[in-house]
Amino acid sequence: MSPADRIIVPLDVAGKEAAIALLDHLPQVTFWKVGLELFVSTGPEILVELKSRQKKIFLDLKFHDIPNTLAGACRAAARYGVDLVTLHATAGKDALRLAQAAAIEGATETGNPAPRLIAITLLTSLNAHNLAFDLKIPLELPEYVLQMALLAQESGLAGAVCSPQEVEQLRQACGSDFLLVCPGVRPAWAEVGDQRRVVTPAAALKAGADYLVIGRPITAADDSIAAFERICEELEQGGKSC
Ligand code: C5P
Repeated sequence: MSPADRIIVPLDVAGKEAAIALLDHLPQVTFWKVGLELFVSTGPEILVELKSRQKKIFLDLKFHDIPNTLAGACRAAARYGVDLVTLHATAGKDALRLAQAAAIEGATETGNPAPRLIAITLLTSLNAHNLAFDLKIPLELPEYVLQMALLAQESGLAGAVCSPQEVEQLRQACGSDFLLVCPGVRPAWAEVGDQRRVVTPAAALKAGADYLVIGRPITAADDSIAAFERICEELEQGGKSC
């Protein structure tokens, strides 16, 4: 896989027009993430648009529901030919298993390859204090993240979203086939913004990430194309063999 194909850029915009403008502006990007705001604004139209441009799609809607409903959502997502779908590991083993089976059914119905379902272990907006005092979970944060990733793996999911701080531990525990997708990545020359404890793209790949979600360092740069290409070059020089 080329370094460029390891970078997923979020379409973090409010509507279809702005999304199309970003797609037109960055034709080099092969993998786009669609999140809640854009999806709620446009509906699946944006997925159809991305497919018509032969782009890969990370549908990041973070599904969390009872097994039957979760399975229905994954089946429907699979019909659009998306590549990655997020769901919360805390939906539980039955729901995750059913969701995985339903995603395969949806893809088969439409002749698409099945999307890879990846688990949210713990939202990175939650810290150790929130885990202990708000959610009342009596595990250290890294241990909780690890247990949620293992639950996802046992339930047949393809991988997990994780922070760059967690990637090394998860790679060791879950093995080389488990897909690890990392946001919270910042080139050394980019603004950190509201992300905490960031690492560089090359360091995240070296630690074991398969894909990097990199938004504002590219989309908010004065020259987005140059920023994207600079990251690709840095990955080629410093990352694992891509
Ligand atoms: O602009 P930036 O690179 O911070 O964008 C990161 C993207 O990854 C955003 O779409 C954000 O919502 C998403 N994300 C994240 N942290 C997570 C999960 C998703 O930053 N734990």
